[in-house]
Amino acid sequence: MTTTQEKDALTELGEFIAEVMQREHPHSHLIAVLHKAQSLYGYLPTEVMNEVAARMGIPTAHIWGVATFYHYFNLNPPGKHTISVCLGTACYVKGAGAILQRLKDELKIEFGQVTQDGMFSLQPARCLGACGLAPVVMIDDTIHGDLTADKMMELLETYRKGSED
Ligand code: FES
Repeated sequence: MTTTQEKDALTELGEFIAEVMQREHPHSHLIAVLHKAQSLYGYLPTEVMNEVAARMGIPTAHIWGVATFYHYFNLNPPGKHTISVCLGTACYVKGAGAILQRLKDELKIEFGQVTQDGMFSLQPARCLGACGLAPVVMIDDTIHGDLTADKMMELLETYRKGSED
């Protein structure tokens, strides 16, 4: 991210916080502010959380508590590819658990983490709206369905190779 992009993101976040601070119970909108920050930066950098704390007058420790409580928030920069494993009922029943375990073993990461080479990050997802294709995994914006743990490994290979080009 360039400095200009960071400045734009900070300006936009600042405007959002300023608007929230006009509302009746501004602190109850902390999660919305963190969502906004994550959508602007792709994750929640420490400096941004400090900035949110300062602008909202909320202790930084509290912000960290909220950010680490929800799986949705990433505290690390995302990998080049984000793998979202659907853990909705249809996918779970059809073997999402085995796919997830294989991914964790292969990539050596847990949810919210990034592989050492920065290639993949892993996150849980609720129903991705493609239950007919269960079990489903979304990589970046692409849905992959009818998966097995073996097919998932082949898919990883495709993305690894694609990154070499
Ligand atoms: S439960 Fe996975 S797509 Fe619906």
